[in-house]
Amino acid sequence: MSRTSREVRLAHPPAGLPTAQDFTVVETAVPEPGPGELLVRNLGFQVFGAAVTTALGQDVAHFPGLHPGGVPFGPAVGEVVAGGGGFAPGDLVSHGAGWREFAVLPADRCAPLGDALPDPLLHLSHGWTGYAALTRIAPVRPGDAVFVSNAAGAIGSLAGRIARLLGAGRVVGSVGSPAKARRLVDELGYDAAVLRGEPLGEQLAAAAPDGLDVVVDLVGGEQLRAAVEAARPHARIALTGALTAQYATAGPRMRAPVDLDLAQLILKSVRVTGFRADDHPDALPEWNERFASWLRNGEIDFPHTRISGIDRAPRALEDLLAGRHVGAVLVEP
Ligand SMILES: NC(=O)c1ccc[n+]([C@@H]2O[C@H](COP(=O)([O-])OP(=O)(O)OC[C@H]3O[C@@H](n4cnc5c(N)ncnc54)[C@H](OP(=O)(O)O)[C@@H]3O)[C@@H](O)[C@H]2O)c1
Repeated sequence: MSRTSREVRLAHPPAGLPTAQDFTVVETAVPEPGPGELLVRNLGFQVFGAAVTTALGQDVAHFPGLHPGGVPFGPAVGEVVAGGGGFAPGDLVSHGAGWREFAVLPADRCAPLGDALPDPLLHLSHGWTGYAALTRIAPVRPGDAVFVSNAAGAIGSLAGRIARLLGAGRVVGSVGSPAKARRLVDELGYDAAVLRGEPLGEQLAAAAPDGLDVVVDLVGGEQLRAAVEAARPHARIALTGALTAQYATAGPRMRAPVDLDLAQLILKSVRVTGFRADDHPDALPEWNERFASWLRNGEIDFPHTRISGIDRAPRALEDLLAGRHVGAVLVEP
């Protein structure tokens, strides 16, 4: 039976940060899955803005370049419709071929969802990146003061609660507006917020007067520089993202230089570690189990927006990049 699928394609190179007008939604014939392939009906995908902007026009490690006519990379969950490779129709899987209704892809690029989490879309939370940072890279110890930059984004909106559940004493996050600063404290479990775009040294000194023990940095630039200044002896810093470059309106999106005071790092024995969550696969099942248990106990929730209909996905990306969302942005195609 011939089947069609709608998918989001880049229409032309964006002039600056991508907007909805830079994409088009196209109907296409779905091929039969070949040997070792699966046909998957996507139930949802994450609008992973940083993956889209970073890949624009260039191949970057782990993300194929996004050129006109191409479909962006996007974490997705779906239901197997046909194919083999150890999967059966009805199985739920995660994979990277979002931004489309149906995906045909090699079975070895799909992972079974397992039954730890009650809703397949919870697998799109990206909380596990924050969990890996706060357990493997910059482990939280009881009473620690933790700083998360970009605290109302997909990762940051969960990282504050995760830090607290792991024993943090004080949790501070950065955001782009006073309205989001209020939501950080009222809804997302942070003790205090600092505003990007305003001098950070004084704000951090007021928000965490005894200094920082743990930093999950998703931004780089001035925020990382200020975090190093505020670090206490033996602080741990997990370099997790570089939004200063990835969400810049111009310039290379995978170069994120920053001036750091090495004397401070050395004299305070600060550990600074770049990392990819994918290099810590053991953290994922552990996160799923803990996320499920924290959800059951009402100790955490999943801040996100669900958007119905693939036609609305390009606009969802534009809104995400403009800072109009809190938490993860998911599309149910
Ligand atoms: N290391 C890993 O394994 C790993 C895995 C996944 C993702 N990441 C990285 O994690 C980072 C965060 O991803 P995410 O999905 O959590 O973020 P996100 O949800 O896409 O963040 C969206 C927020 O970014 C802020 N923003 C917009 N423009 C900005 C700019 N020019 N500078 C700084 N912030 C800006 C806005 O918040 P405000 O309005 O509050 O400013 C916006 O709401 C990315 O760098 C991504 O590549 C790393």
